[in-house]
Amino acid sequence: MLATLEKLQEDAIGDIDALDSIAELETWRIAYLGSKGRLKGVMPLMKDVSKEEKPAVGKRLNEVKTTLEEAFESRKCELSGAVKLRPPLDVTEPGNDEATGRRHIITKTIDGITEVFGRMGFSVAFGPEVEDEYHNFNALNIPEDHPARDSIDNFFMDGDRMLRSQTSTVQIRVMESTPPPIKIIAVGRVYRPDTHDATHYSMFHQCEGLLVAPKVSMVDLKTTLFQFAKAYFGEEAEVRFRPSFFPFTEPSAEVDMKMKIKGKWQWVEIGGCGLVDPNVFDQVGYDNTQWQGYAFGLGIERIAMLKYGIGDIRLLFENDARFLRQF
Ligand code: DAH
Repeated sequence: MLATLEKLQEDAIGDIDALDSIAELETWRIAYLGSKGRLKGVMPLMKDVSKEEKPAVGKRLNEVKTTLEEAFESRKCELSGAVKLRPPLDVTEPGNDEATGRRHIITKTIDGITEVFGRMGFSVAFGPEVEDEYHNFNALNIPEDHPARDSIDNFFMDGDRMLRSQTSTVQIRVMESTPPPIKIIAVGRVYRPDTHDATHYSMFHQCEGLLVAPKVSMVDLKTTLFQFAKAYFGEEAEVRFRPSFFPFTEPSAEVDMKMKIKGKWQWVEIGGCGLVDPNVFDQVGYDNTQWQGYAFGLGIERIAMLKYGIGDIRLLFENDARFLRQF
């Protein structure tokens, strides 16, 4: 009986593969699975099977039956062009929302800032995040005993390698590899081992600017930042300089911009700037009697938080999609 079952299954599968219409499939069904079909025809042979073999033969009989039924269903789907097991289409069912990604607020802010400076003719430069002390300090005229060099204020690695604490390093890298004139911005991450709180984080972003030309003044610098503020924050934005000190600029200033926060125009400190110190030009081999320059550094997180009304810097880096989705 087992041999008969095997032959039956083989014939059935061979036949079903060869047919190519629903009508032929129905003929096949009647021939194999119908009440007078071949499978039913095998049943009476059961009585001749020995008692010991009955369970195994019965099992095989059921398997062959299932195989044939499944073959029938799947061939039926193929022949009628339907996809197997798909439920009927319910046109009243609400659609599935496509989960679209979005740019992070920091990326958006960087793109916006880069776009404005791009229109003003600045190209974008990049520098390494793992730096050496020379580029992070010495070349920027930051003396050995300057407090900004303190090991507890920086992430030092082996030797004199460190995570850069400012994007001003890119000024040096660009001037080392490019003859003047220069007109670049450099945007990227900087690192300081600050304790995390609402306004501090151990990693943040800066936008550095550097212009080197035969004649450059504080007026050029202020005009550039003024135009940036108007383009980025709106027509009513303003720029204010306050005297300050940075080792790599002389004179130096703090940059405040007047921007709209919660509907009110307010002054906010967003970075530092100044005219490039002649000592910096000496470090990179530029003739400081021929070339002058201005530089600025703006805090990206600060701009983003003010623009989008975010009160806690930590929210930017927790990457909670429910928070980020709002912007
Ligand atoms: N590097 C400074 C900082 O991280 C910011 C800065 C100030 C950059 C003055 C400049 C500049 O280019 O001219 O605090």
